[in-house]
Amino acid sequence: MAIERIIDSSVHNNDADEQQIEVTLRPKSFNDYIGQDRLKNNLKLAIDAAKKRGEPIDHVLLYGPPGLGKTTMATVIANEMGTNIRVTSGPAIERAGDLASILTNLSDGDVLFIDEIHRLGRTVEEVLYSAMEDFKLDIMIGKGPAARSVRLDLPKFTVIGATTRTGALSAPLRDRFGISHRLEFYKPTEITDIITRASNILGSKIHPGAAELLSTRARLTPRIANRLLKRVRDYADVNGDGIIDVPTTEAALNLLEIDTLGLDPGDRNLINSIIENYGDNPVGLNTIAALTGDEATTIEDFYEPYLLQIGFIERTPRGRRVTPKAYKHVGKKPSESQNQQRLV
Ligand code: ADE
Repeated sequence: MAIERIIDSSVHNNDADEQQIEVTLRPKSFNDYIGQDRLKNNLKLAIDAAKKRGEPIDHVLLYGPPGLGKTTMATVIANEMGTNIRVTSGPAIERAGDLASILTNLSDGDVLFIDEIHRLGRTVEEVLYSAMEDFKLDIMIGKGPAARSVRLDLPKFTVIGATTRTGALSAPLRDRFGISHRLEFYKPTEITDIITRASNILGSKIHPGAAELLSTRARLTPRIANRLLKRVRDYADVNGDGIIDVPTTEAALNLLEIDTLGLDPGDRNLINSIIENYGDNPVGLNTIAALTGDEATTIEDFYEPYLLQIGFIERTPRGRRVTPKAYKHVGKKPSESQNQQRLV
């Protein structure tokens, strides 16, 4: 993405400061982790059972929109198991050899976290699922007629895979995960608690009303909540006495052009572009991407999940469609003819 968007819930790999703060704020245990109760309960059970048996826990697949805490949950699992975590990502493991060197350096019980696991190449994926299945690594030594295959024993490790889309995962890989869970958007009260917790850690004073206001603008996503908090904190430090109250928060959010639902100019542009060009007729993902100048995957991973969640866009077999609620939010009315179409 050309312009850095505050609501972009991806991790900015080039922003070391941002990442450092995110790591500082990250909960370390289930007790610190706010929200995702169903997932936490399931994982606690799996961890207790595995500990009792003295085994590593089953491989875990976490999926859902970016910024909801997949990496955080993986580190919590490793902490709760009392093991090490090795963090990598699908695109970082280019060749089977890269994976072999990671796997052979693990110890018994270690967690291997693979972010964006849907982006693993085919051959790497095949090596991975035999490793996950029987903790063996099949590698070819040599080339041509002299080539032979050797089977190495691997430590008993746990893969935690994270993906924004399970659909992009091959069935054999998906089947290797004993535990598979979707991370849900957070409740506004949970986001308020996350903001309050983060302000405490950062040593900032925030009024409860300001935390609540921020929580309505954070797209129900902790990463965005923490990012907004940091921007508002900057604003309060520069323009006031550093205390984050409601007027300071409102002023900072106005400056950032984040509206009452947490939408930024990019979201509003997306909705307006569809309305102006297609009304409330269904429109394909690639067409939307062409309208906004984004990649189709950016639309699918970053804009769309929240717009679907708040009912601004709906998916139909013929494409995405803007809803009356979205029209209202951008101050437009569906035309009569479009209303007719909606009824048929
Ligand atoms: N910071 C980011 N995500 C969090 C969560 N789920 N609970 C507590 N703090 C967080």
